[in-house]
Amino acid sequence: MKPILDATAGNRAYRKNKNPPHTVFMDKEVGLSRPPDILGDWKNLPFRDDVFQHVEFDPPHSKFGLNSIHMNPLGHGAENGGTWWGSLETGWFGVFYKAQKEFARVSNRLCFKWNTTSHALEKVLKVFEEWVEVYRKNHTSTMKRGGSETWWITMTTVNTKQLRIKPVR
Ligand SMILES: C[S@@+](CC[C@H](N)C(=O)[O-])C[C@H]1O[C@@H](n2cnc3c(N)ncnc32)[C@H](O)[C@@H]1O
Repeated sequence: MKPILDATAGNRAYRKNKNPPHTVFMDKEVGLSRPPDILGDWKNLPFRDDVFQHVEFDPPHSKFGLNSIHMNPLGHGAENGGTWWGSLETGWFGVFYKAQKEFARVSNRLCFKWNTTSHALEKVLKVFEEWVEVYRKNHTSTMKRGGSETWWITMTTVNTKQLRIKPVR
């Protein structure tokens, strides 16, 4: 059985079981109260190809200020000198673009969590060009801010060999 990669482990807040089996926890932060198994960056994953059954991706989603937990749980501020979104070349958009390419290299399934406080879901989904959406679920949060919504999107990579398979008669 292939393991699961939680690529944005943080302090594992969304999990009831903080130490589930077959799960590798990764984050780029040193000093979290629940340290990750591996310190790593989604833009350059320290794993071989096709080793995970799925990847969970819960990236920072809001511009509440550079010290916000949504930027970084230790409040170190945003990458790129505080440019929160920016362009494909310089901002978070570009960071997510590189991340989704890496996720497609290590797995063919991605579970992406997004809150719409600062950016609409459909805008962000444009970044995931390696992926096809198969399912989405709205999670109504008790911490709902100004009508924002939290979504879980399940995506898969397009497998061209599979598309050529004909049904057995
Ligand atoms: C919204 S928090 C994740 C919260 C976590 N899922 C939880 O339930 O507690 C986003 C996380 O992404 C991490 N992060 C930001 N940029 C990263 C990067 N380039 N590579 C890996 N982790 C990163 C942050 O350190 C932070 O822990």
